[in-house]
Parts: sequence; structure tokens; C-alpha cells
Amino acid sequence: MIIAVVGTGYVGLVTGTCFAETGNKVTCVDIDQSKVEKLSAGQITIYEPGLEKIFLRNIKEERLNFTTRLEEAVEDAEIIFLALPTPPGADGSADLKYVLGVADHLGKILKGYKVIVNKSTVPVGTADKVSAAIAKNYLGEYDVVSNPEFLREGVAVDDFMKPDRVVVGTRSERAKKLMSDLYAPFVRQGNPVIFMDERSSELTKYAANSFLATKISFMNEIAQLCERMGADVDMVRRGIGSDDRIGKLFLFPGIGYGGSCFPKDVQALIRSSNEVNYGFQILNAVEKVNEIQKLHLVKKIMTFFKQDLNGIHFALWGLAFKPNTDDIREAPALIIIEKLINEGATISAYDPEAMPNVKMQIGDKIKYANNQYQALENADALIIATEWSEFQKPDFERMSKKIKSKIIFDGRNLFDSSMMVELGYIYECIGKKRQIDKG
Ligand SMILES: NC(=O)c1ccc[n+]([C@@H]2O[C@H](COP(=O)([O-])OP(=O)(O)OC[C@H]3O[C@@H](n4cnc5c(N)ncnc54)[C@H](O)[C@@H]3O)[C@@H](O)[C@H]2O)c1
Repeated sequence: MIIAVVGTGYVGLVTGTCFAETGNKVTCVDIDQSKVEKLSAGQITIYEPGLEKIFLRNIKEERLNFTTRLEEAVEDAEIIFLALPTPPGADGSADLKYVLGVADHLGKILKGYKVIVNKSTVPVGTADKVSAAIAKNYLGEYDVVSNPEFLREGVAVDDFMKPDRVVVGTRSERAKKLMSDLYAPFVRQGNPVIFMDERSSELTKYAANSFLATKISFMNEIAQLCERMGADVDMVRRGIGSDDRIGKLFLFPGIGYGGSCFPKDVQALIRSSNEVNYGFQILNAVEKVNEIQKLHLVKKIMTFFKQDLNGIHFALWGLAFKPNTDDIREAPALIIIEKLINEGATISAYDPEAMPNVKMQIGDKIKYANNQYQALENADALIIATEWSEFQKPDFERMSKKIKSKIIFDGRNLFDSSMMVELGYIYECIGKKRQIDKG
């Protein structure tokens, strides 16, 4: 099939590359000229494990192209995917200006039957709005389909190539047939393509992300109880996670959910609910809990240093909002950095992939280390904000030689508390009482 993907960010680039990998001819469009130039020259613009190899292969095979010209990409395309930003507007609702702007443009240039597929996360009713925006200028045949994306950054290629499920919202048999054919190679193992109406499909994405955010906030509240009651959240997690009805995943407490999806999607669903006169009480609480949790580690740090961080130097491991990505949108580490710097502290940070993005955003407000051990030099304490695997099993001997004071504030519960005490560390983590050295 011939496919156009409009928007070549985290979702668009993975979508375009993976569709090319299954033999389709894909043209990705972006308004960012420098991004298109890089991609056309074979330089990948995001860090996503496994993506570069198939990206290069499909460029070489001439199945994957990049352009800034929408006309050129959609001319022969049978299916046009929209993978555009839907950032929160001032009131928290999803801003549809990118999606509707492209829909309006499409109306002026379409020729022949096309399926326009919305992959962006959009409020219920957006398919109708996209359709209306196209219809203003286009009298030909087309269908607008909702096909929310469930990939997780860090494992996006695997998620796309072997999805748990594909959700497709359309009432058009013609569009349904095309979408079934396109996705057939991805669901050969029998995972379902679930067809439904457009509105249910649009709501499915918000429901999924909001439920996951709820699980995180719930565990963060249990962690708060553990700290106050002398229980261990890891034990509680294992105790409840082995119940199939609860499940083992997404039960890890931490320093609040971040990233480009959960915060904005929870906000947008609260906002959409208000618009239909329904106050979504659970989600309001999920958001509030997350705001508190984002500052939980900072609070512990402030208490430890008796509310005075002047002259205190921290090592910070992890900047990305989660491991295996360079994405720093709404990353908890950035909130920690801002708070600590405002209190007079200095920071040396290390992240395997996200440092260039942080540098672009906050410049030299912090120092950037060449590796995790260099970041520890002269540090009064180490803060862990992202659970990259290389932080999980460090060389403790090397670590102990570098760090000035053996104090760790771990927002991801990477280490065994008793072992850290044995190694002579003061180890503060989430959802456990600080262990005191028995000696
Ligand atoms: N990132 C994720 O993990 C993820 C997962 C599932 C769903 N989503 C949703 O997918 C959508 C895209 O997210 P993302 O993370 O890929 O965003 P992104 O910001 O990484 O990418 C969006 C791209 O669209 C481009 N763009 C903006 N206006 C354009 C226009 N008029 N024409 C062509 N290109 C244009 C931007 O330059 C950018 O490259 C959002 O709605 C998001 O909520 C994201």
C-alpha cells in the first residue's frame, strides 16, 4: 500500500518506519525542515531501541521517504495517518490546532478516495471535526478513521510490530477493509484488531492512559502509607501483584508519572468530562496525588539537609522521563532540578541519551557528566530519577570512591535497602522507612 504519515515525531517516525518494514511505500511529512533534512540523509532524530536499523534498511530499499510537502506525500497515498501533536491548551483540553490545520489543508489538495486516520490522541468527536474540516473544501470520497496509538516509548518498535491489540474506530466498510489489510502482518499471532465506532475508539485511548495513571497514583499513595506505617512498599507490591485481577505491571511507586502522554491525557479527559457535566472524581484525585508525588523526593532532600541547600552539590542519575528514551517532556528530573537550583544547590547530571535534549532546554544551569561515575565527583548526595538499567547494577566500589558523602535519594527504588546500609550509605527511597545502620 502507499501510505502518508503526517507528523514525524516519536509516533510518526515509528509508525512510518514499521509500515515500511512490512512492505508498504511510506512518505513521512513534517513541517520541521531540519528534521526532514536529517531524516532524508539517514540520520535518526529520536532515540528508540531497534528503530535505527529498520529505518536505514527501509530508506535503502526506497520504501521510506521524507518531505516537508504535504501535497507530495498524499498525492498517491491510499491511507493518510495523522501523528500530530495534541498538547494541552491553557485550560487543559487537547489543542486540536495541528490536527484541524492539516485536515483543512488536506481538504484543499485531496484527489480520489482516501482514508484519513487519526493516530494522535484526541478528544471524543474529533473524527467528526476532522471530517467537517475536510468537507469544507473537498467534495470527493473519503473516510476519517480513529486509530489510537498505544506504543510505549523505549519499546515502541516492539509494541508497534507486535501490538496487544489494534483499535480501529470506523463505521465505513471500505475503510475497515483497508485497515484490516494494512494491519494483517502485525497481528498474525492472533492478537485482535478491535473495530468499533469512532467515538468509542477515541475514548479508549484516554481511558487506557487514565487507568494506568490511576494505578501509578494509587501505588504512590500506598507508598506514602508505607513510609508512615513502617511497611515496605515492595513487599506490598508483590503481595497484591500476584493477584491476576490486579496484575504485576504498573505497580511501582516513584516520583510521579511524567512524559508526553499521561499528564496531558489525564488533564484532557478531566476537561472533556467537565464539558459533558461530569466531574471525573477519581481522575481529579489522580492528578492531585501526582502533583504531590513529584515533589516527594525534594521534600525528603530538604528535610535531610535541614531546609538549606546552599552550597550543596548533587549528582543526578537520569533525566529522561523513563529509561530507553531521550524524551524529557514532563520528566520528573526536570522538576527536581528546578526546585534544587532555586534552593541554592548545584547539580552534575548524567543520562545515557537525554542530555542533548536537556541541554537544549535548560543550557548550563547544570553540569553534564561523561558517565554516571563522573557525575558523583564532589557530590554531597546522589539522586536517582530514571531507572536506566546501567544504574541498577553499578560498580559500588567505584561509586563509593567518587562520591563525597555516601547519601542516596532514590526515586526509583533501585537498590536493596539493607545492602546499601551495609555498604555504609544513608539510603532514602520511596515507600520504605530509612534503614538505620545497626552498627
Ligand atoms: N509519544 C508517545 O509515546 C505517544 C504514544 C501514543 C500516542 N501519542 C500521541 O501521538 C501524537 C503525537 O505524539 P508524538 O510524541 O509523536 O509528538 P511529537 O511532538 O514527537 O511529534 C509531532 C510531530 O509533528 C510535527 N508537526 C507539527 N505540525 C505539523 C504539520 N502541520 N505538518 C506536519 N508535521 C507537523 C512536529 O514537527 C513533530 O515532528 C500525540 O497526540 C500524542 O498524544 C504519543
